[in-house]
Amino acid sequence: TVNKTTISQVHKYVDQEVKIGAWIANKRSSGKIAFLQLRDGTGFIQGVIVKEDVAEELFQTAKSITQESSVYVSGVVQKDERSPLGYELLVKGIEVLHQSVDYPITPKEHGTEFLMDNRHLWLRSRRQHAVMKIRNEIIRATYEFFNEQGFAKVDPPILTGSAPEGTTELFATKYFDEDAFLSQSGQLYMEASAMALGKVFSFGPTFRAEKSKTRRHLIEFWMIEPEMAFVEFEENLEVQEQYVSYIVQSVLKNCTIELKTLGRDTSKLENIKAPFPRISYDDAIKFLNEKGFDDIKWGDDFGAPHETAIAEHYDKPVFITKYPTSLKPFYMQPDAEREDVVLCADLIAPEGYGEIIGGSERIHNYDLLKQRIEEHKLPLESYQWYLDLRKYGSVPHSGFGLGLERTVAWISGVEHVRESIPFPRLLNRLYP
Ligand code: 4AD
Ligand code: MG
Repeated sequence: TVNKTTISQVHKYVDQEVKIGAWIANKRSSGKIAFLQLRDGTGFIQGVIVKEDVAEELFQTAKSITQESSVYVSGVVQKDERSPLGYELLVKGIEVLHQSVDYPITPKEHGTEFLMDNRHLWLRSRRQHAVMKIRNEIIRATYEFFNEQGFAKVDPPILTGSAPEGTTELFATKYFDEDAFLSQSGQLYMEASAMALGKVFSFGPTFRAEKSKTRRHLIEFWMIEPEMAFVEFEENLEVQEQYVSYIVQSVLKNCTIELKTLGRDTSKLENIKAPFPRISYDDAIKFLNEKGFDDIKWGDDFGAPHETAIAEHYDKPVFITKYPTSLKPFYMQPDAEREDVVLCADLIAPEGYGEIIGGSERIHNYDLLKQRIEEHKLPLESYQWYLDLRKYGSVPHSGFGLGLERTVAWISGVEHVRESIPFPRLLNRLYP
């Protein structure tokens, strides 16, 4: 009987023969020995074929097999301290399922545009595989964290009639005879859900027709949006720092091979533990001016260089709190002591990855919220349902949105968010 298994499970079969369905990621051979880099989705393992020890036919198959051919390979699992996995396979047999012809992504260097055109294949590479596994771990840890904390998962709609984050970046579409937008954020629906279920979180795609071409911007990105009834500004920050610490520590624990593959400096992640520092918007402006940034004054929004300069001052993510009301969306609760700032915070990741969370306490007074909707020239009739939440047992409540791709990019240490989502939608890119 054969032990049919996967690369991630070979540790259970040391010195035993196993059969694995795999692709040939790479190959090296001389007259005497062939090394096959095998991948099966669960991981990578090196297969070794020594000419002397095997039938001539098997050695020839190993020598002639092409990159990305699919095989059933059988062999004996052996401990190998030098490999990242800790094991290698002494190959006893190869059954070729499909010979791959002229695989475009060869082991040499390729340009970004070429790789992006071939994203459907590029995903198979060792580094991209590692980033996707880390993304998956962050998603897994997210569900674990919020379930343990008593949150219910709620799914807000994708086709909406409202615009929580401003009306300039909307994807409009027809909804039969009406106009609809692709969701920019599920927040308003999550607020309604929090009034029904108390503590809720969502995880879903959001869309921004942003004409920004930076390493932090996607047109379609995934957001985790928790919303909590009876939770005020400072308590909201505590949930955020606990959550971000939890996902970083989960990746450190469960993705050691992937972090090694990516060459991530894990010492920078190890001390990501709550609490995180907080700096007010006022102090952040003063700090930047003292640092020599004379291009920014009170009332201006931060650009990427500003955020990076502030983040560099700390070795953990930092909350920038209480921004001017004029810079933020209509729904944020004003500070009781100062009407010109709101009870919000952006969480800025270390190492130049920028804002990973935007959150706030929400306005719970009916009249103030109505006034803000009018000031922002939003159509009142589309927001009547949202105003209802302030009419029937309104409570203080808060929430936030974590951008998954920026978080994946930061924890993985990849430069650009295009590598932190399987099929990025970017300015000028809808293929593949
Ligand atoms: O700061 P934002 O716009 O906040 C909201 O949408 C709130 N309604 C969330 C809430 O309170 N429920 O977006 C939240 C996060 C940002 O901090 C960033 O990480 C990410 O979403 N994000 C983007 N990520 C990639 N590409 C873009 N174009 C992004 N825009 C925002
Ligand atoms: Mg924001």
